[in-house]
Amino acid sequence: MQLDEVRKNFIGYFTDLGYVRQTESSLIPRNDPSVLFTTAGMQQFKEFYSSPLDAPAKSVVTIQPVFRTSDIGEVGDATHLTIFEMLGNFRFGEESSLRMKETAIKEAWNFVHKRLGVVKERVSATVFKGDKLTPGDTESEGIWQMLGIEVKRMGRDDNFWGPAGDEGPCGPCSEIYIDGIEVWNLVFAQYYKNTDGKFEKLPQAGLDTGSGLERLSATLQSHRSVWAIEPFVSWVDMVDPTREYESKIIIDHLRAILFLVSEGILPANKGRDYVLRRLIRKVVFLERRAAIKADLSKVITEIHAYYAPSYTLTDPEKVVKVFEAEQAQFEKNLARAIGHLDRWVASQSEQPSSEEITKLAFYLFESFGFPRELLLEHLRDLGWDFDNELFAKLFAEHQETSRQGSEGLFKGGLADHDAQTIKHHTAHHLLLAALRKVLGNGVVQKGSNVTKERLRLDFSFDRKLTDDELDEVDSIVNDKIKAKLPVVKQEMSKDEALKSGALAEFGQKYGDKVSVYSIGDFSKELCGGPHIKNTGELGKFEILKEETSSQGVRRIKARVS
Ligand code: ALA
Repeated sequence: MQLDEVRKNFIGYFTDLGYVRQTESSLIPRNDPSVLFTTAGMQQFKEFYSSPLDAPAKSVVTIQPVFRTSDIGEVGDATHLTIFEMLGNFRFGEESSLRMKETAIKEAWNFVHKRLGVVKERVSATVFKGDKLTPGDTESEGIWQMLGIEVKRMGRDDNFWGPAGDEGPCGPCSEIYIDGIEVWNLVFAQYYKNTDGKFEKLPQAGLDTGSGLERLSATLQSHRSVWAIEPFVSWVDMVDPTREYESKIIIDHLRAILFLVSEGILPANKGRDYVLRRLIRKVVFLERRAAIKADLSKVITEIHAYYAPSYTLTDPEKVVKVFEAEQAQFEKNLARAIGHLDRWVASQSEQPSSEEITKLAFYLFESFGFPRELLLEHLRDLGWDFDNELFAKLFAEHQETSRQGSEGLFKGGLADHDAQTIKHHTAHHLLLAALRKVLGNGVVQKGSNVTKERLRLDFSFDRKLTDDELDEVDSIVNDKIKAKLPVVKQEMSKDEALKSGALAEFGQKYGDKVSVYSIGDFSKELCGGPHIKNTGELGKFEILKEETSSQGVRRIKARVS
């Protein structure tokens, strides 16, 4: 069964069962600064496992492109892709874990068996065997046995999934295999893992499943490799069928590049931008190594045409432009790096130690973006020793720096620097000041999260707000928008800022030098920005929801148009 038919069948099957179709989320998670990319279908629903009443529906179904940096090194084998389409069905707020598992396993089994026509003999399953941290999943084991499917118990590494990021829902999982290939992961989200590593039982269970579309479709077509099915076969043919391995990696990376550029990411040295840079450089390097002559801009256009009906993508011309600009820069760097290396080689009177060689190699890698593989090859050609372990250590340190760099971007609860996010950020300040006006100065900020879609403010207050109070807050904020107040930034020491009456978030750490944003004389807060210049730039302010966040803390979600 071709990819498109599997997509249609999956959505058709689950919507017939009452699941509500949701659109895929961005590859940049809006609610979770602890991860770089959306790596699973459940990412956009993470919060609903703890607060099911906020979910758009009790059961939902999606096809989500997911991006796994952890798999980049495996690409080129039969089943790993940097980016793939994940089919998933999800349930929130289930009273009984046993009933949920019965429903989920039977639904999955019927899809595979009845809808896709896979016979029992080709199917097997695995379940979590349990360990010191959490018990085994005997419930799922019993259900598979009742269905007459071969089932194996496995350990935590294979059969306990999550959380995505530093904390979140997670639980034992049951994996479905066809012809010995893992095609579907059913996660029973029964726990919440905290940042301290402890597992707390969730009051209600949830379901999170994920099946790699490309892998599933290949298996249904009796292939063991995603590269044996369309459109992958044709794409590899377009690149260079005589250099299959390199062509597969190039195709995989071009797909990933297309999706990342469509998210507005541009190649640079930190976080997501660095991932994009690495992908482009790898393609350029492989092209060179394998002397591939294909016109990659045509290949990008072809891949774009395939995905454009299903996903919102940037024009192929824009993607080609980003690719070619980075390519030109990289080729220049490469020439400089090779020049540097040659000069260094010529200046050595005797054979350098492997430590010296490795440090030089790392310098070239870090400063010129010289890919590791290319370096290794070049050094091997020179007959030089290279210390893999030392390189790995230097690399790990480098990655840690990049990771910190990308986290820095999200200080202040901002998900990104989109124009609408910035507007929400300024509205967030107005909202806090209005709440203090209506409810008193006992109200302090306890947390915040600001995205393109909405702003969220957590603040200290011990009861639900009345409709009148909410109306009053709403009209104060809208008045301040109409008043076109200037938003002004000043730098000062932390002490000066606090003395001047600027508000700080409770429990938040600040450096000695801080910036303070004032909105007219209505609001003054310690804040890293960014903000709009004048409240007149904001449209209508609207409170979406007021709810409890935790003991003594309320949460408001709001937006501006
Ligand atoms: N979230 C699960 C996974 O990614 C389904 O495998």
